[in-house]
Amino acid sequence: LDRRQQARLVQACLGLTEAEASNALAKAIVQAGGVLGSDAVEAVTAEKKQIIRKSGLLEYYDNTELIDNVGGLDTLKEWLRKRVRAFTDEARTFGLPAPKGILLVGVQGCGKSLIARSVASMWRLPLLRLDAGRLFSSLVGSSEENLRQAIKTAESVAPAVLWVDEIEKGFSGVGSSNVSDAGTAARVFGGFITWLQEKQKPVFVVATANDISNLPPELVRKGRFDEIFFVDLPNAAERADIWRIHLAKRNRDPNQFDLTTLAMASEGLSGAEIEQAVIAGLYEAFDANRPLTMNDLLDVLNETVPLSTMMREELEALRAWARQRARNASTQR
Ligand SMILES: Nc1ncnc2c1ncn2[C@@H]1O[C@H](COP(=O)(O)OP(=O)(O)OP(=O)(O)O)[C@@H](O)[C@H]1O
Ligand SMILES: [Mg+2]
Repeated sequence: LDRRQQARLVQACLGLTEAEASNALAKAIVQAGGVLGSDAVEAVTAEKKQIIRKSGLLEYYDNTELIDNVGGLDTLKEWLRKRVRAFTDEARTFGLPAPKGILLVGVQGCGKSLIARSVASMWRLPLLRLDAGRLFSSLVGSSEENLRQAIKTAESVAPAVLWVDEIEKGFSGVGSSNVSDAGTAARVFGGFITWLQEKQKPVFVVATANDISNLPPELVRKGRFDEIFFVDLPNAAERADIWRIHLAKRNRDPNQFDLTTLAMASEGLSGAEIEQAVIAGLYEAFDANRPLTMNDLLDVLNETVPLSTMMREELEALRAWARQRARNASTQR
């Protein structure tokens, strides 16, 4: 193992007890035929998965995504790229604090959850998902105790990425049938906020939200997150990028398609809607027993009413909110 690989392996072992770590390494050596190879990191990670599964409150999320499969959002990607080595000893020695987390606010289907899934693969850290609603489930102890337990588990496998999807829904708590009262929801949320602000362990929180009307103001106050990013609808260049990604994902050669024309014809569409258009076009071609053509895609677009058209007012409110409080995830709007 070279020095970088050694550092990665040591980092992967953090959070395991000595017995767990030596057990995992022994297994890896046996699997690799008697040597300690670079895939030992995966063996150690597998050991961590077991620990998370046992806890029951967090989900070890395997379904990560490559950052290259995220179209556009250049500012956000660059921010993340700069922090690839942020959790190493090298960074500590250099005098850098470990990043705390980001809040991604934005339009539906534009890649917030996608980014959350790709941070972990980019940084090669385990991805843990916290379902805030599950904390309130009366089946597993008190809600406050559940939060403490979830935090403890996340910290025990740190460095790790903790993904809290749709945070405004999870912590609004009240209203869903299994929640006892508003006071509990507020206390648990308060506990989470305090931890965000004061945590010492390298757990990087990626929270997402799309409903700003339900977003507690305490959450967006300075000091909670390193940055609040606003994820807007993709611009033309970003749409071309997203078409390219989704055509390639479905085994089509993007060079066979006029991406600029597709980008123009899909103004107002989200990434998720572009993905759906690719699928709808593929169905047309499949049904007619011929390869996918530009016309299939353009026909689909003709019949698509973007969600952003139906929700114009919400979108404007979201943008106005973001102008004051968030940083754009992409340049040139
Ligand atoms: N920028 C993008 N690049 C590539 N694909 C995208 C992009 N945005 C969205 N998609 C596609 O749409 C899917 C849904 O997007 P995602 O779940 O990330 O949206 P979201 O912003 O989390 O929406 P919501 O607010 O509804 O949760 C993704 O899994 C991906 O396939
Ligand atoms: Mg989402």
